[in-house]
Amino acid sequence: MELINPFKPTAGMTPPVLMGRESVLEDFSDGLLEGPGAPGRLMRITGPRGSGKTVLLTELGEMALAKGWRVVNVVSDEDMCDSIVRQLRAPLRMKGVKVGVTLPVIAAELDAGLLSEDATFRELFERAVRKLTDSGAGLLITLDEAQNADRDAMGTIASCVQLMIRERQNVALVFAGITTGVLDLLNSKSLTFLRRAKSEELANIPINEVSRALKATIERSGLSIGDNALSAMAAATEGYAYLTQLVGYSVWRTARRHADVSLQINEDDVERGIAAARKEYGSAVLDTALADLTLPAVEYLFAMCEDAGASATGKVAERMGRSTADANSYRRILIARQIIESTATGYVAFSLPYMREHLIANRGRIFARYGL
Ligand SMILES: Nc1ncnc2c1ncn2[C@@H]1O[C@H](COP(=O)(O)OP(=O)(O)OP(=O)(O)O)[C@@H](O)[C@H]1O
Ligand SMILES: [Mg+2]
Repeated sequence: MELINPFKPTAGMTPPVLMGRESVLEDFSDGLLEGPGAPGRLMRITGPRGSGKTVLLTELGEMALAKGWRVVNVVSDEDMCDSIVRQLRAPLRMKGVKVGVTLPVIAAELDAGLLSEDATFRELFERAVRKLTDSGAGLLITLDEAQNADRDAMGTIASCVQLMIRERQNVALVFAGITTGVLDLLNSKSLTFLRRAKSEELANIPINEVSRALKATIERSGLSIGDNALSAMAAATEGYAYLTQLVGYSVWRTARRHADVSLQINEDDVERGIAAARKEYGSAVLDTALADLTLPAVEYLFAMCEDAGASATGKVAERMGRSTADANSYRRILIARQIIESTATGYVAFSLPYMREHLIANRGRIFARYGL
Protein backbone atom coordinates (compact mmCIF):
# COMPACT_ATOMS: atom_id res chain seq x y z
CA MET A 1 0.00 0.00 0.00
CA GLU A 2 1.32 3.40 -0.91
CA LEU A 3 1.85 5.66 2.09
CA ILE A 4 0.21 9.05 1.70
CA ASN A 5 -0.01 11.59 4.49
CA PRO A 6 -3.75 11.76 5.26
CA PHE A 7 -3.74 14.93 7.42
CA LYS A 8 -4.84 18.30 6.04
CA PRO A 9 -3.24 21.22 7.85
CA THR A 10 -4.59 23.78 5.39
CA ALA A 11 -7.27 26.41 5.94
CA GLY A 12 -10.65 25.31 4.65
CA MET A 13 -9.54 21.77 3.80
CA THR A 14 -11.85 19.04 5.02
CA PRO A 15 -9.97 16.76 7.45
CA PRO A 16 -9.98 12.97 7.01
CA VAL A 17 -12.13 12.63 10.14
CA LEU A 18 -14.40 15.48 11.20
CA MET A 19 -13.92 15.65 14.96
CA GLY A 20 -16.33 16.93 17.56
CA ARG A 21 -19.11 18.18 15.33
CA GLU A 22 -21.74 15.53 15.83
CA SER A 23 -24.23 17.72 17.65
CA VAL A 24 -24.04 20.57 15.13
CA LEU A 25 -24.53 18.14 12.25
CA GLU A 26 -27.49 16.64 14.06
CA ASP A 27 -29.06 20.04 14.75
CA PHE A 28 -28.76 20.90 11.09
CA SER A 29 -30.02 17.57 9.83
CA ASP A 30 -33.03 17.83 12.16
CA GLY A 31 -33.59 21.33 10.82
CA LEU A 32 -33.71 20.08 7.25
CA LEU A 33 -36.20 17.37 8.17
CA GLU A 34 -38.43 19.43 10.44
CA GLY A 35 -39.52 21.88 7.78
CA PRO A 36 -39.85 25.65 7.44
CA GLY A 37 -39.12 27.59 10.59
CA ALA A 38 -37.09 24.82 12.27
CA PRO A 39 -34.34 26.28 14.46
CA GLY A 40 -31.61 24.28 12.70
CA ARG A 41 -32.33 26.17 9.48
CA LEU A 42 -30.96 29.42 10.82
CA MET A 43 -27.56 28.95 12.39
CA ARG A 44 -24.52 30.94 13.35
CA ILE A 45 -21.16 29.26 13.78
CA THR A 46 -18.52 31.14 15.74
CA GLY A 47 -15.02 30.43 16.93
CA PRO A 48 -11.45 31.68 16.72
CA ARG A 49 -9.19 31.39 13.66
CA GLY A 50 -8.51 27.77 12.77
CA SER A 51 -11.33 26.35 14.88
CA GLY A 52 -12.99 24.74 11.87
CA LYS A 53 -15.75 27.11 10.77
CA THR A 54 -15.17 26.90 7.03
CA VAL A 55 -14.85 23.13 7.10
CA LEU A 56 -18.11 22.90 9.01
CA LEU A 57 -19.91 25.07 6.46
CA THR A 58 -18.69 22.73 3.74
CA GLU A 59 -19.97 19.75 5.67
CA LEU A 60 -23.42 21.28 6.22
CA GLY A 61 -23.53 22.12 2.53
CA GLU A 62 -22.85 18.48 1.69
CA MET A 63 -25.67 17.40 3.97
CA ALA A 64 -28.08 19.76 2.25
CA LEU A 65 -26.90 18.61 -1.18
CA ALA A 66 -27.46 15.02 -0.16
CA LYS A 67 -31.07 15.92 0.60
CA GLY A 68 -31.38 17.35 -2.88
CA TRP A 69 -31.16 20.98 -1.78
CA ARG A 70 -29.46 23.69 -3.75
CA VAL A 71 -26.46 25.17 -1.93
CA VAL A 72 -25.02 28.62 -2.50
CA ASN A 73 -21.76 29.52 -0.73
CA VAL A 74 -20.72 33.14 -0.28
CA VAL A 75 -17.82 34.85 1.45
CA SER A 76 -18.13 38.35 2.85
CA ASP A 77 -15.26 39.80 0.81
CA GLU A 78 -17.31 39.67 -2.41
CA ASP A 79 -20.55 41.43 -3.25
CA MET A 80 -22.71 38.86 -1.51
CA CYS A 81 -26.04 39.54 -3.19
CA ASP A 82 -24.40 39.62 -6.57
CA SER A 83 -22.64 36.36 -5.86
CA ILE A 84 -25.89 34.67 -4.80
CA VAL A 85 -27.62 35.85 -7.96
CA ARG A 86 -24.77 34.67 -10.15
CA GLN A 87 -24.77 31.26 -8.53
CA LEU A 88 -28.53 30.91 -8.79
CA ARG A 89 -28.43 31.86 -12.45
CA ALA A 90 -25.61 29.45 -13.26
CA PRO A 91 -26.55 25.97 -14.39
CA LEU A 92 -26.44 23.45 -11.60
CA ARG A 93 -22.97 22.00 -11.43
CA MET A 94 -23.02 18.30 -10.76
CA LYS A 95 -19.42 18.34 -9.56
CA GLY A 96 -19.14 17.65 -5.86
CA VAL A 97 -22.65 16.34 -5.62
CA LYS A 98 -22.26 12.99 -4.00
CA VAL A 99 -25.45 11.29 -3.02
CA GLY A 100 -29.13 11.17 -3.63
CA VAL A 101 -29.52 14.02 -6.06
CA THR A 102 -33.06 13.69 -7.23
CA LEU A 103 -34.50 14.68 -10.54
CA PRO A 104 -36.85 17.38 -9.20
CA VAL A 105 -33.83 19.45 -8.22
CA ILE A 106 -32.61 19.55 -11.73
CA ALA A 107 -36.11 20.30 -12.93
CA ALA A 108 -36.23 23.09 -10.39
CA GLU A 109 -33.28 24.76 -12.06
CA LEU A 110 -33.97 28.42 -11.99
CA ASP A 111 -34.93 29.40 -15.50
CA ALA A 112 -33.30 32.70 -15.12
CA GLY A 113 -33.71 33.36 -18.79
CA LEU A 114 -37.34 34.21 -18.13
CA LEU A 115 -36.38 36.86 -15.65
CA SER A 116 -35.08 40.11 -16.98
CA GLU A 117 -31.45 41.01 -16.30
CA ASP A 118 -32.51 43.81 -14.00
CA ALA A 119 -34.76 41.67 -11.82
CA THR A 120 -34.03 42.64 -8.25
CA PHE A 121 -32.15 40.42 -5.88
CA ARG A 122 -35.34 39.89 -3.92
CA GLU A 123 -37.32 38.75 -6.97
CA LEU A 124 -34.68 36.30 -8.06
CA PHE A 125 -34.10 34.95 -4.62
CA GLU A 126 -37.78 34.42 -3.85
CA ARG A 127 -38.42 32.87 -7.18
CA ALA A 128 -35.57 30.40 -6.70
CA VAL A 129 -36.69 29.46 -3.21
CA ARG A 130 -40.32 28.95 -4.25
CA LYS A 131 -39.34 26.83 -7.22
CA LEU A 132 -37.02 24.69 -5.15
CA THR A 133 -39.66 24.26 -2.45
CA ASP A 134 -42.33 23.33 -5.02
CA SER A 135 -40.10 20.54 -6.23
CA GLY A 136 -39.56 19.19 -2.72
CA ALA A 137 -36.11 20.67 -2.27
CA GLY A 138 -34.86 23.92 -0.75
CA LEU A 139 -32.09 26.51 -0.77
CA LEU A 140 -29.20 26.73 1.68
CA ILE A 141 -27.06 29.87 1.83
CA THR A 142 -23.74 29.52 3.64
CA LEU A 143 -21.91 32.73 4.46
CA ASP A 144 -18.29 32.66 5.62
CA GLU A 145 -16.20 35.37 7.34
CA ALA A 146 -19.45 36.95 8.51
CA GLN A 147 -17.56 39.31 10.85
CA ASN A 148 -16.56 41.34 7.78
CA ALA A 149 -19.96 41.27 6.09
CA ASP A 150 -21.39 44.43 4.63
CA ARG A 151 -24.29 45.34 6.93
CA ASP A 152 -26.61 46.40 4.11
CA ALA A 153 -26.10 43.25 2.06
CA MET A 154 -26.49 41.14 5.17
CA GLY A 155 -29.73 42.97 5.93
CA THR A 156 -31.07 42.32 2.44
CA ILE A 157 -30.26 38.63 2.61
CA ALA A 158 -31.67 38.30 6.13
CA SER A 159 -34.93 39.98 5.23
CA CYS A 160 -35.41 37.79 2.14
CA VAL A 161 -34.76 34.67 4.20
CA GLN A 162 -37.13 35.86 6.91
CA LEU A 163 -39.88 36.52 4.39
CA MET A 164 -39.45 33.10 2.81
CA ILE A 165 -39.62 31.39 6.18
CA ARG A 166 -42.85 33.24 6.92
CA GLU A 167 -44.18 31.95 3.64
CA ARG A 168 -43.19 28.45 4.81
CA GLN A 169 -40.71 27.97 2.01
CA ASN A 170 -37.67 25.71 2.32
CA VAL A 171 -34.75 27.99 2.99
CA ALA A 172 -31.78 27.79 5.36
CA LEU A 173 -29.07 30.28 6.23
CA VAL A 174 -25.86 29.39 8.05
CA PHE A 175 -23.28 32.08 8.70
CA ALA A 176 -19.86 31.66 10.25
CA GLY A 177 -17.24 34.00 11.63
CA ILE A 178 -14.97 35.09 14.43
CA THR A 179 -17.00 35.24 17.65
CA THR A 180 -16.54 38.91 18.64
CA GLY A 181 -16.99 40.19 15.09
CA VAL A 182 -20.19 38.22 14.62
CA LEU A 183 -21.61 39.49 17.91
CA ASP A 184 -20.85 43.03 16.73
CA LEU A 185 -22.62 42.33 13.48
CA LEU A 186 -25.70 41.07 15.30
CA ASN A 187 -25.83 44.32 17.23
CA SER A 188 -26.63 46.23 14.05
CA LYS A 189 -30.17 47.46 14.23
CA SER A 190 -31.22 46.09 10.85
CA LEU A 191 -30.06 42.58 11.69
CA THR A 192 -32.20 41.72 14.69
CA PHE A 193 -33.71 38.77 12.84
CA LEU A 194 -30.30 37.09 12.73
CA ARG A 195 -30.01 37.19 16.51
CA ARG A 196 -32.50 34.34 16.57
CA ALA A 197 -30.02 32.11 14.78
CA LYS A 198 -29.10 28.99 16.68
CA SER A 199 -25.63 29.58 18.08
CA GLU A 200 -22.90 26.98 17.67
CA GLU A 201 -19.67 28.10 19.29
CA LEU A 202 -16.80 25.85 18.21
CA ALA A 203 -15.24 25.00 21.53
CA ASN A 204 -12.18 22.79 21.81
CA ILE A 205 -12.66 19.21 20.72
CA PRO A 206 -12.52 16.74 23.63
CA ILE A 207 -9.06 15.10 23.73
CA ASN A 208 -10.45 11.56 23.80
CA GLU A 209 -12.29 12.28 20.60
CA VAL A 210 -9.13 13.73 19.03
CA SER A 211 -7.31 10.61 20.12
CA ARG A 212 -9.85 8.28 18.53
CA ALA A 213 -9.85 10.21 15.27
CA LEU A 214 -6.05 10.39 15.07
CA LYS A 215 -5.80 6.65 15.62
CA ALA A 216 -8.42 5.85 13.00
CA THR A 217 -6.76 8.18 10.50
CA ILE A 218 -3.30 6.78 11.13
CA GLU A 219 -4.45 3.18 10.82
CA ARG A 220 -6.34 3.83 7.63
CA SER A 221 -3.22 5.38 6.14
CA GLY A 222 -1.24 2.18 6.71
CA LEU A 223 0.74 3.15 9.84
CA SER A 224 0.01 2.23 13.44
CA ILE A 225 0.55 3.83 16.84
CA GLY A 226 0.84 2.69 20.47
CA ASP A 227 -1.20 4.11 23.34
CA ASN A 228 1.46 6.33 24.95
CA ALA A 229 2.52 7.87 21.68
CA LEU A 230 -1.13 8.44 20.80
CA SER A 231 -2.03 10.17 24.02
CA ALA A 232 0.99 12.48 23.83
CA MET A 233 0.01 13.37 20.30
CA ALA A 234 -3.63 14.05 21.17
CA ALA A 235 -2.70 16.17 24.19
CA ALA A 236 -0.41 18.39 22.10
CA THR A 237 -3.34 19.44 19.90
CA GLU A 238 -5.18 21.04 22.86
CA GLY A 239 -8.33 20.05 20.98
CA TYR A 240 -7.74 22.95 18.57
CA ALA A 241 -8.94 21.90 15.12
CA TYR A 242 -6.00 23.28 13.14
CA LEU A 243 -3.47 21.65 15.48
CA THR A 244 -5.16 18.26 15.17
CA GLN A 245 -4.18 18.33 11.50
CA LEU A 246 -0.81 20.02 11.87
CA VAL A 247 0.38 17.73 14.67
CA GLY A 248 -1.03 14.72 12.79
CA TYR A 249 0.73 15.78 9.63
CA SER A 250 4.15 16.39 11.20
CA VAL A 251 4.17 13.25 13.34
CA TRP A 252 3.06 11.15 10.39
CA ARG A 253 5.77 12.67 8.22
CA THR A 254 8.44 11.95 10.82
CA ALA A 255 7.36 8.31 11.12
CA ARG A 256 7.16 7.91 7.34
CA ARG A 257 10.95 8.17 7.19
CA HIS A 258 11.43 4.80 8.88
CA ALA A 259 8.51 3.08 7.16
CA ASP A 260 10.86 0.61 5.49
CA VAL A 261 11.88 -0.65 8.95
CA SER A 262 8.75 -0.10 11.01
CA LEU A 263 5.23 1.10 10.27
CA GLN A 264 4.64 1.95 13.91
CA ILE A 265 4.68 5.59 15.04
CA ASN A 266 6.89 5.63 18.15
CA GLU A 267 7.23 8.12 20.99
CA ASP A 268 10.31 9.67 19.44
CA ASP A 269 8.40 10.36 16.22
CA VAL A 270 5.68 12.00 18.27
CA GLU A 271 8.12 14.15 20.18
CA ARG A 272 9.89 15.34 17.06
CA GLY A 273 6.65 15.73 15.12
CA ILE A 274 5.11 17.86 17.85
CA ALA A 275 8.21 20.06 17.99
CA ALA A 276 8.05 20.59 14.23
CA ALA A 277 4.31 21.29 14.38
CA ARG A 278 4.76 23.84 17.19
CA LYS A 279 7.47 25.60 15.25
CA GLU A 280 5.35 25.82 12.13
CA TYR A 281 2.33 26.93 14.15
CA GLY A 282 4.44 29.55 15.93
CA SER A 283 5.63 31.14 12.73
CA ALA A 284 2.58 30.62 10.51
CA VAL A 285 -0.14 31.45 13.01
CA LEU A 286 1.10 33.04 16.22
CA ASP A 287 3.77 35.33 14.73
CA THR A 288 1.40 36.39 11.97
CA ALA A 289 -1.18 37.31 14.59
CA LEU A 290 1.44 39.39 16.44
CA ALA A 291 2.80 41.19 13.40
CA ASP A 292 2.21 44.96 13.20
CA LEU A 293 1.02 45.45 16.76
CA THR A 294 2.02 48.64 18.52
CA LEU A 295 4.42 48.36 21.47
CA PRO A 296 1.77 48.98 24.16
CA ALA A 297 -0.45 46.27 22.65
CA VAL A 298 2.49 43.87 22.90
CA GLU A 299 3.10 44.99 26.46
CA TYR A 300 -0.54 44.26 27.20
CA LEU A 301 -0.02 40.67 26.03
CA PHE A 302 3.10 40.23 28.15
CA ALA A 303 1.23 41.61 31.15
CA MET A 304 -1.35 38.85 30.58
CA CYS A 305 1.38 36.18 30.53
CA GLU A 306 1.77 36.46 34.30
CA ASP A 307 -1.57 34.69 34.78
CA ALA A 308 -1.95 30.99 34.13
CA GLY A 309 -5.60 31.35 33.10
CA ALA A 310 -7.79 34.37 32.33
CA SER A 311 -6.44 37.79 33.32
CA ALA A 312 -8.35 40.51 35.19
CA THR A 313 -8.24 43.64 33.02
CA GLY A 314 -7.65 45.85 36.06
CA LYS A 315 -4.59 43.77 37.00
CA VAL A 316 -3.22 44.00 33.47
CA ALA A 317 -3.50 47.80 33.51
CA GLU A 318 -1.75 47.90 36.87
CA ARG A 319 1.12 45.74 35.62
CA MET A 320 1.47 47.98 32.58
CA GLY A 321 1.51 51.03 34.80
CA ARG A 322 -1.30 52.58 32.77
CA SER A 323 -4.77 53.86 33.53
CA THR A 324 -7.62 51.41 33.03
CA ALA A 325 -9.04 53.54 30.22
CA ASP A 326 -5.69 53.59 28.49
CA ALA A 327 -5.18 49.82 28.86
CA ASN A 328 -8.74 49.23 27.65
CA SER A 329 -8.00 50.88 24.34
CA TYR A 330 -5.25 48.29 23.71
CA ARG A 331 -7.52 45.53 24.92
CA ARG A 332 -10.10 46.53 22.31
CA ILE A 333 -7.51 46.45 19.54
CA LEU A 334 -6.32 43.01 20.63
CA ILE A 335 -9.88 41.68 20.75
CA ALA A 336 -10.62 43.10 17.30
CA ARG A 337 -7.44 41.43 16.02
CA GLN A 338 -8.71 38.13 17.49
CA ILE A 339 -5.61 37.66 19.61
CA ILE A 340 -7.46 37.80 22.92
CA GLU A 341 -11.08 37.48 23.90
CA SER A 342 -13.25 38.52 26.75
CA THR A 343 -14.14 35.48 28.90
CA ALA A 344 -16.33 37.33 31.42
CA THR A 345 -16.90 40.99 32.26
CA GLY A 346 -13.49 42.36 33.21
CA TYR A 347 -11.54 39.28 32.15
CA VAL A 348 -9.58 38.40 29.04
CA ALA A 349 -7.74 35.32 27.80
CA PHE A 350 -5.69 34.38 24.75
CA SER A 351 -7.81 33.18 21.82
CA LEU A 352 -5.25 30.78 20.40
CA PRO A 353 -3.55 27.86 22.13
CA TYR A 354 0.14 28.20 23.04
CA MET A 355 0.13 31.99 22.63
CA ARG A 356 1.34 32.47 26.18
CA GLU A 357 4.18 29.94 25.76
CA HIS A 358 5.08 31.49 22.43
CA LEU A 359 5.29 34.99 23.88
CA ILE A 360 7.41 33.88 26.80
CA ALA A 361 9.77 31.83 24.63
CA ASN A 362 10.21 34.64 22.10
CA ARG A 363 10.19 37.64 24.41
CA GLY A 364 13.60 38.95 23.39
CA ARG A 365 12.97 38.58 19.69
CA ILE A 366 9.55 40.25 19.89
CA PHE A 367 10.77 43.28 21.89
CA ALA A 368 13.76 43.59 19.57
CA ARG A 369 11.31 44.58 16.83
CA TYR A 370 10.64 47.75 18.80
CA GLY A 371 14.32 48.46 19.33
CA LEU A 372 14.22 47.24 22.92
N1 LIG B 1 -13.86 19.11 12.99
C1 LIG B 1 -12.57 19.06 12.62
N2 LIG B 1 -11.82 17.98 12.92
C2 LIG B 1 -10.51 17.94 12.54
N3 LIG B 1 -9.88 18.90 11.88
C3 LIG B 1 -10.58 19.99 11.56
C4 LIG B 1 -11.95 20.13 11.91
N4 LIG B 1 -12.40 21.31 11.46
C5 LIG B 1 -11.34 21.91 10.84
N5 LIG B 1 -10.25 21.11 10.89
C6 LIG B 1 -8.92 21.47 10.37
O1 LIG B 1 -8.55 22.70 10.97
C7 LIG B 1 -7.97 23.60 10.03
C8 LIG B 1 -8.75 24.90 10.01
O2 LIG B 1 -10.07 24.69 9.55
P1 LIG B 1 -10.93 25.88 8.94
O3 LIG B 1 -10.20 26.52 7.83
O4 LIG B 1 -12.29 25.36 8.69
O5 LIG B 1 -10.97 26.89 10.20
P2 LIG B 1 -11.68 28.31 10.29
O6 LIG B 1 -12.33 28.37 11.62
O7 LIG B 1 -12.53 28.53 9.10
O8 LIG B 1 -10.44 29.30 10.29
P3 LIG B 1 -10.40 30.85 9.82
O9 LIG B 1 -11.06 31.64 10.89
O10 LIG B 1 -8.93 31.15 9.71
O11 LIG B 1 -11.11 30.94 8.50
C9 LIG B 1 -7.91 22.84 8.70
O12 LIG B 1 -6.64 22.29 8.58
C10 LIG B 1 -8.95 21.73 8.86
O13 LIG B 1 -8.61 20.58 8.13
MG1 LIG C 1 -12.46 29.94 7.59
